[in-house]
Amino acid sequence: MKKILVAHDGSKLSETALKQAFEIADKFGSSVTVISVVPELYLTELMEMDRLRILETLTEEAQKILDKIKTKTAGSRPVKTIVAQGNPAEEILETAKKLKADLIVTGSHGRHGAQKFLLGSVSSKIVDHAPCTVLVVK
Ligand SMILES: Nc1ncnc2c1ncn2[C@@H]1O[C@H](COP(=O)(O)OP(=O)(O)O)[C@@H](O)[C@H]1O
Ligand SMILES: [Mg+2]
Repeated sequence: MKKILVAHDGSKLSETALKQAFEIADKFGSSVTVISVVPELYLTELMEMDRLRILETLTEEAQKILDKIKTKTAGSRPVKTIVAQGNPAEEILETAKKLKADLIVTGSHGRHGAQKFLLGSVSSKIVDHAPCTVLVVK
């Protein structure tokens, strides 16, 4: 458990996922990287300029959330943060491969999902395709 990758979408559950990742990191002396992916926008009616502006706003928002995590943990442990753009599950899986992560931690549900489904679409794709162990926090 040397490297832990936490998928963070700003939801309450991903905050819980982060806390649990820290508990594991404390036990195993692991490094923690937090990734937030700004999803692609498929709104075809949008003008390219609007699309870019929305992407920029969402990227800034994600960056702010991760910066807050960094500030909060600054005294206790070093945390790496990554803001990516694209398909969330694919970017998270790609990053896990690149980092050679030993563990990916996600929430079972995210920001906008329907709770009636067993697993969110992002976490379910991660569980299916991950190159390592996955912890799904509920
Ligand atoms: N854009 C994203 N960037 C990083 N992690 C994400 C992203 N979207 C989802 N996740 C991770 O996957 C978990 C489940 O979210 P998701 O599968 O999107 O469920 P829902 O369908 O309920 O939104 C989240 O708690 C978070 O850990
Ligand atoms: Mg979601």
